[in-house]
Amino acid sequence: MVKSFIEENKDRFLEELFDFLRIPSISAQNERKEDMLKTADFLKRKLFDAGVDSAEVMATDGHPVVVAQKIINPSLPTVMIYGHYDVQPVDPIELWKSAPFLPEVRDGKIYARGANDNKGQLYMHIKALEFMVKNNSLPCNVKFIIEGEEEIGSPNLKKFCIAHQDILNCDVILVSDTTLISFDTPSITVGLRGLAYLEVEVIGPDHDLHSGLFGGAVANPINVLATMIAKLKDDKQRITIPEFYTDVVSISNQEREDMAKAPFDIQKYKKSLAISEVLGEEGYSTIERTGIRPTLDVCGIWGGYTGEGAKTVLPSKAYAKISMRLVPNQTPGKIAELFENYFLKLAPAGVQVKVNYLHGGMAYVSPMDTKAYKAAEKSMIQSFGKKPIPFRSGGSIPVIADFEQVLGVKSILMGFGLESDAIHSPNENFSLNLFYKGIETIPYFFKYYTEK
Ligand code: BES
Ligand code: MN
Repeated sequence: MVKSFIEENKDRFLEELFDFLRIPSISAQNERKEDMLKTADFLKRKLFDAGVDSAEVMATDGHPVVVAQKIINPSLPTVMIYGHYDVQPVDPIELWKSAPFLPEVRDGKIYARGANDNKGQLYMHIKALEFMVKNNSLPCNVKFIIEGEEEIGSPNLKKFCIAHQDILNCDVILVSDTTLISFDTPSITVGLRGLAYLEVEVIGPDHDLHSGLFGGAVANPINVLATMIAKLKDDKQRITIPEFYTDVVSISNQEREDMAKAPFDIQKYKKSLAISEVLGEEGYSTIERTGIRPTLDVCGIWGGYTGEGAKTVLPSKAYAKISMRLVPNQTPGKIAELFENYFLKLAPAGVQVKVNYLHGGMAYVSPMDTKAYKAAEKSMIQSFGKKPIPFRSGGSIPVIADFEQVLGVKSILMGFGLESDAIHSPNENFSLNLFYKGIETIPYFFKYYTEK
């Protein structure tokens, strides 16, 4: 039934998604504020078209949240769909083969910023709802909460949830904002990592200096910063911040064995990244390094002269952005504090160091012995013809832990992206067949979740 509905409407679905993708809703950039409003309004209209009873664009201190619902019978369960309409910045723009906000299909893939993360995956839910409403097969109540600040750390969403608990009450939250192992190996994400994101600044002399007259005699903030960063990990790639691992929940050998059963081809992995070797914490496999271990990475570093040609200068300041991915039960606030204490100690005399905490969130682990998980499993068996493999992803969606804390509701992470979709990168894409597979799978989830 849903399959023929998709077949008959697939071109229209794609056209609508393209309209959604054409609005440059980059949450990080102030000049896109109007576009953010336009995108929220677009969603409101599309939700009404799909058959919700109410849809509203609600203001926050940042970008607005879109909420909608269709209540068919208050005594039935309620599934709430979460997604985000904001996207990452597009740079480096010169590496895009087609313009990021002019979506196009090449080789069976939709290319555009947000094609996967998260507009394409979110739009599957709106079209799945359209099907269930038109087909008279919506078996329970449905709500939507769609934010515009996920890519900047959801700074206002927790407060929003606390203030609007009444309109957000539900039995389960369904989210498509993660990946599948592959089309032939369907999977369900059962873990997300937490995050603590910081910016650091090393300040030396109060102005740039001639590197010949002063080099070697005065602390160079870039040299100092590089040395400090190098000290954050030892030669086994373990993070050296004291107490960093203290709260980490240890994983049983049984769980590690189960994780190792997920198909993973290290040769293919290296090839897909054009690297000759992997690097990570000693004693853990690549899947474990991203799934169950906390990590630290420099996401950006700058200072001094980076323009054309040479300029012999000793910079006054150096900066870096540092992300730490966390696992249960590490808390971002405490980790940021441990980082700061240690980082300040690493600084030599003669420089000033500042650490600024930008945002963070807790890790999430999804239980598998629930009706919702089993419904997700059955729905994927029906659409993919194979039992999905549970696996822990290295990515983060901080609000998922907040939902559990504030609303007391668990989330199911049934994503349809692929690791090769280049999210956050140039040429982000989303497979057309997975876009349609998602629309097919979602109504099955509703069916199995509500069946007795
Ligand atoms: N959709 C991603 C998260 C994701 C992708 C999880 C693939 C699992 C698999 C989300 O939009 C994202 O990018 N989150 C950020 C978090 C953030 C606070 C900016 C991330 O993980 O960097
Ligand atoms: Mn993202």
